[in-house]
Amino acid sequence: MPINTIEWIDSQIKIIDQTLLPQKLKYIYCKDIESLKKAIVSLKIRGAPALGIAAALGIVLEMKKSSAKDYSHFKEELEDTISYIGSSRPTAVNLFRSLKRMHNCMEKNRKKKIEKIKEALEKEALQIIEEDKRCNRLIGKKGASLIKDGDTILTHCNAGALATADYGTALGIIYRAKEEGKRVRVYVDETRPLLQGARLTTWELLKEGIETTLICDNMAGEVMREGKIDKILVGADRIAANGDTANKIGTYTLAVLAKENRIPFYIVSPLSSIDLSLPKGEEIPIEQRDKNEVIKGLGKVIAPEEVKVYNPAFDITPAKYIKGIITEKGIYRSPYKKSLKNLGGK
Ligand code: MRU
Repeated sequence: MPINTIEWIDSQIKIIDQTLLPQKLKYIYCKDIESLKKAIVSLKIRGAPALGIAAALGIVLEMKKSSAKDYSHFKEELEDTISYIGSSRPTAVNLFRSLKRMHNCMEKNRKKKIEKIKEALEKEALQIIEEDKRCNRLIGKKGASLIKDGDTILTHCNAGALATADYGTALGIIYRAKEEGKRVRVYVDETRPLLQGARLTTWELLKEGIETTLICDNMAGEVMREGKIDKILVGADRIAANGDTANKIGTYTLAVLAKENRIPFYIVSPLSSIDLSLPKGEEIPIEQRDKNEVIKGLGKVIAPEEVKVYNPAFDITPAKYIKGIITEKGIYRSPYKKSLKNLGGK
């Protein structure tokens, strides 16, 4: 899927403004970390791997401007930048992993001149982008081995090229299966409240010429009961050591319905979304978002504005519902505590 979701161009971060899709494909440039943070919080750039890349590039963007003359001042500034970017969205672990990686890179180069440390940081961030591209293709290859000619897949939210450097994770498997000559159909949940499925996933799949059917989230159970779905593939924002997985709100509902309807439910994720420091799903921080996303979610006011709203952006799917976790290194199976051990991402 040749979409450059996020790039480093002329010392600026170039992203697709995903809030404008599918009506408009518009690229915007973040020239400072304030505009980058706004873009992250407002979901102009989104999806766990893409957030990891945004965080790394954010460090490069800010630290390039640093006038620090010695390492300790440079370190102080970089750590402030980490705290600033780290307070944007709490759930996707890729964001924090990248920030840590950039910090490690700075420390590794501490003996060098400040200009050289800046160069090393830029190289590290560009490497994260290249690794993500490679990783997605490997995931696609491993995952496509599970797809049969004629399969119909159900997916939720957007775990495609737009959520990564390119190609995607769950959608990458579908692209790869198609490249291998398999016929694949996809049902896409619209994914209320912000409609990443309706706006982004359908746009990506149609561009690739994949037969795509859009459903409202509350239709998924009936579609499964009617026998229309062979497999469910969704992404992950953070996977705990026992396999419990945080992903877009509504994923848990799908997993339970999948079990009832005997449909294999897979999480598709790079190792960089696995967080072995958290033993179980309840410890994953879940982002709570603005009530207006629900009240005005469809572009106009759809509920009394004074109504109370609960708007968690993610839910936790217990490991017991997950048939396998498809990664760049292979497919991990239950018991995840054992199979994921020592694999907690780079
Ligand atoms: O709120 P979003 O759009 O950032 O949520 C994205 C998801 O939940 C994706 O499924 C997840 O990040 C995996 S992307 C490969």
